Amino acid sequence: MHTTVSLAEPEAEQPEQSEQPAARAGDRDRTPSFTYQPALDGLRALAVLGVLLYHAGVSWAPGGFLGVDAFFVLSGFLITSLLVDEWRTRGRIDFRAFWARRARRLLPALVLVVVAVGVYAVFVARPDELQRIRGDTFGSLLYVANWRQLFESSYFAKLATPSPLRHTWSLGIEEQWYLVWPLALVLMVRVTAGRRWAVIGITIGLAFGSAALMAALFDSGDPTQVPSDVNAFANFMRFLDQPIPLCPGTACTSQMQSGSKIFVAIGCANCHTPSLTTTTSEMATGLSQVQANLFSDLALHHMGGNLADGITQGNAGPDQFRTAPLWGVGQRVFFLHDGRTSNMAQSILEHEGSGSEANRVIENFEQLSRQDKENLILFLRSL
Ligand code: HEC
Repeated sequence: MHTTVSLAEPEAEQPEQSEQPAARAGDRDRTPSFTYQPALDGLRALAVLGVLLYHAGVSWAPGGFLGVDAFFVLSGFLITSLLVDEWRTRGRIDFRAFWARRARRLLPALVLVVVAVGVYAVFVARPDELQRIRGDTFGSLLYVANWRQLFESSYFAKLATPSPLRHTWSLGIEEQWYLVWPLALVLMVRVTAGRRWAVIGITIGLAFGSAALMAALFDSGDPTQVPSDVNAFANFMRFLDQPIPLCPGTACTSQMQSGSKIFVAIGCANCHTPSLTTTTSEMATGLSQVQANLFSDLALHHMGGNLADGITQGNAGPDQFRTAPLWGVGQRVFFLHDGRTSNMAQSILEHEGSGSEANRVIENFEQLSRQDKENLILFLRSL
């Protein structure tokens, strides 16, 4: 789920340094120990690059998302350094100034992104997307996007187009950490009476505790593959092989062969195209360039007043239907979109109606001899 990320800029750039509290007179060894480190900018660039490669799906960078963790570590290091410096030089931490600096650094860029997404939402987004973006906007601005996404449990929401504000979850985590960490640090310093190793020890203990908790709570299976049962079923269906027709084969009778010829001769094959070849598939090489005997052109046809359901769906008008594939039709109990008949011959006659593209072909069918009709149906059952 959390596959996109927004990287807050860690601190400690030149301007930040000017905000550093001045060292107290006569306190030379306590001047701010932390200064601008160009190497950290290099690390930052590498981290961003990793995340970009990961999202681009580059095969040799499957761990690129660790750049997010690198960013968190950098931010943690820089922020902690600033807080420790302030504590050592001033003996206290000005929380209000600290939080104001964080807001000044993060908010302008975030507001810009939110406004841009808002413009997109108003002019481009579909109504269902709009609803989501509205919620995500508040989540992002309040820096709680991570919690919002965590508690969003609807299958449909997870299957929907990812929100353009999805990546703000990482900003949320960072900002919440900025809120909690200075308080926690001061508390630890107070409790341990400022003993440095005690503070470090507690911090490491908390980090390990958090990691252990995550390991215990972690739900095996790829968390980005939610909902896994739906995906598994879709893949099962997607990778199933096609039904094997009786013809050609040892069970193929001369009646079926005759029916096959009639099927083409009277024009059923105009819509029920006997076979199509699949394109190249990277995902399933076994399904690449395969002849699929689905007996459908997969196209929409006007089927006239008799079959019309009066419903417009996607590109299909009220009397339009996509040619039903006939593979495995012998296994079917009810025919046509509304299952109106369980009689195969009747399902063919139902193709006829005012304005149906199949009228001529159905007239041909009606003129067939009894035997030819029977052969045709035997052929259909063999698919
Ligand atoms: C103009 C295109 C067209 C022609 C010609 C045509 N069909 Fe169809 N056929 C369709 C469409 C579209 C459907 C799906 C209609 C529906 O679901 O209501 C369909 C459905 C069927 C079905 C039902 C399949 C199912 O799973 O419910 C059968 C059987 C069938 N056709 C056989 C034939 C035969 C046999 C012929 C030749 C006599 C023929 N069709 C001619 C377009 C055509």
